[in-house]
Amino acid sequence: MLSRRNALKAGVLTTGVVGAAGLASPVLGSGAASAAEPVAGAIGAPAVIPQFAVPLTVPPVLSPLLSSGTTDYYLVTMKKVLKEVVPGKQTEFYTYNGLVPGPTIKARRGKRVVIRQTNQLDMPVSVHLHGAEVPVDSDGAPMNTIAPGASKVYTYPNNQRASTLWFHDHAHHHESENVYRGLSSVYVINDDAEQALGLPGGAYDVPLVIRDGRYDENGQLVYVMDDFLNRTTITVNGSPWPYYQVAARKYRFRILNSTNVRFLLLSLSNGGTVTQIGTDGGLLERPNETPVLALSPGERADVVIDFSRYPVGTQLVLQNALGPGPADQVGKIMRFDVVRTAADNSTVPARLSTLPAPQTATVNRSFELRMDEDGRLDPQAYINGQTYDPARVDVRIPWGSTEVWSVTNSNTRAPHNFHLHLVQFRVLERNGQAPGPAEAGLKDTVQVLAGETVKLLVTFNSYRGVYPYHCHMFDHGAMGMMGQMEIY
Ligand code: C2O
Ligand code: CU
Ligand code: CU
Repeated sequence: MLSRRNALKAGVLTTGVVGAAGLASPVLGSGAASAAEPVAGAIGAPAVIPQFAVPLTVPPVLSPLLSSGTTDYYLVTMKKVLKEVVPGKQTEFYTYNGLVPGPTIKARRGKRVVIRQTNQLDMPVSVHLHGAEVPVDSDGAPMNTIAPGASKVYTYPNNQRASTLWFHDHAHHHESENVYRGLSSVYVINDDAEQALGLPGGAYDVPLVIRDGRYDENGQLVYVMDDFLNRTTITVNGSPWPYYQVAARKYRFRILNSTNVRFLLLSLSNGGTVTQIGTDGGLLERPNETPVLALSPGERADVVIDFSRYPVGTQLVLQNALGPGPADQVGKIMRFDVVRTAADNSTVPARLSTLPAPQTATVNRSFELRMDEDGRLDPQAYINGQTYDPARVDVRIPWGSTEVWSVTNSNTRAPHNFHLHLVQFRVLERNGQAPGPAEAGLKDTVQVLAGETVKLLVTFNSYRGVYPYHCHMFDHGAMGMMGQMEIY
């Protein structure tokens, strides 16, 4: 059982987030309760889905169409497909290449990836590679969209540390619904240094893309803005509450919270620890042995779980201690079934990587995140009192500068997080204290719970141009909680 002390050890939870019982505390609501209430009668009863009834699948790795010494070229088509999530029903999804989540792209540090994205959907899309250092025209900015029927070529230099990135839609005002309906895919950068470590690899290196959804009795996804109370069906790699048959050995899991607005506090049902080896921006310096993983929307945790600690026959549920929603649904994510023994020559070295040395900051800026939480019907969300305006640049940053960004959530109930495009940053402080080990690596998304202030150290030394920053609860971004920085 997850204790409150362990939850606090994760370093990201404050009073009131996890109730005394741990599970089933519907406390991480995102405000604006009236807008989130179920639309009674209009949408139909929720679908009933059995748990641990289907196996986990692993998204296939996409093969390049063509490879040169310097570049891998890919083709991706965005289209609608039908897929079974609710037994006996076909759910319509928006997809990359017909898959939910889309195919995984594996890149090599220093080798460019060029993707031609073709939009066969009936609305504009924009493909953003979350966590990547990219030239501005390939960032997938909200207004830089691909019209229905059109294509666009995105170029990713991959001049950054080995890391687990995420590509997802970012079309202005529609990203929230578009991602909810499926436009989401994993992108992995590998490099020599990481490969030399001997971490679990190949079939033992598995992405776990966690999301939630609201399915009606016909199996269709229901999208209502900020509908955090009703998205109670959990899927991992596209399957509802799957089981995964594992060998009694070490596995590497790249866990992505790809939900729109749900915070996760993950643990194993037997209280066993996992070894966190990486964050959003790649490997930590040292492994962090932890009983819990706290992931807000957009955050990744790279972990190793050693199933050789458990006898063959053991079943471990990956649990989530945070609401909102019924614990028998949102409290469970998937199940690991230890079914066989296996050889294992992988290791988790005590020294994983060296982070780039922090630069000295010359500029301090403050950002206040706030959304209307008085129950009004059309709540807006703000950064420094303003909603997003794609025609406005909020912050101008000379190229090469290092800055401290203090980000405050001034809501009393709603959690937020904060994501910058283009850069990986360091978390300097959370509420005046040094961050815990789970935030000691490079990050591109950081949790900012109600009343909290985080201080980030950010160096802008890659590309120039106008890039967004925003709360990564997609629905909040769509309500306006997004700004723009220009690096010049
Ligand atoms: Cu996943 Cu604008 O970001
Ligand atoms: Cu991003
Ligand atoms: Cu938010």
